[in-house]
Amino acid sequence: MATERTFSIIKPDATRRNLTGKVNAVIEESGLRIVAQKRIHMTQAQAEAFYGVHAARPFFRDLVTFMISGPVVVQVLEGENAVARYRDVMGATNPANAEPGTIRKLFAESIEANSAHGSDSTENAATEISYFFAGTEIVG
Ligand code: CMP
Repeated sequence: MATERTFSIIKPDATRRNLTGKVNAVIEESGLRIVAQKRIHMTQAQAEAFYGVHAARPFFRDLVTFMISGPVVVQVLEGENAVARYRDVMGATNPANAEPGTIRKLFAESIEANSAHGSDSTENAATEISYFFAGTEIVG
């Protein structure tokens, strides 16, 4: 298995409840390393571009409104099989379907306010990472 990088967002519902450290503890306990991290407040244009793949979905407007409703923490995570591993660590998109011990089961409020985003492929991870981070900001 190869060492990979994936892109993560700790979403506004989690930053609002002061859960950044608790989410990071779950990430680190899984063996993934946080090799870049910054707290930002996304602009509407950033959120629309980031979630552009979902533009035709009925939940798109609400999703963008939610993602700009407060600060987020954008991260680069590194480890063996990081993309798939982080998706396991997050749990299912809908917290009602998430496994015990996952970030979304532990912390998410709803399918929208679901505390964390993670890339769904290595290709999307590279795109998403480059959207928020310069190479010099990632220290493995
Ligand atoms: P995320 O991994 O950030 O990618 C797209 C997001 O859309 C997803 O997490 C959910 O938080 C959000 N979302 C809101 N409503 C839905 C829905 N009905 N189905 C899937 N995703 C949804």
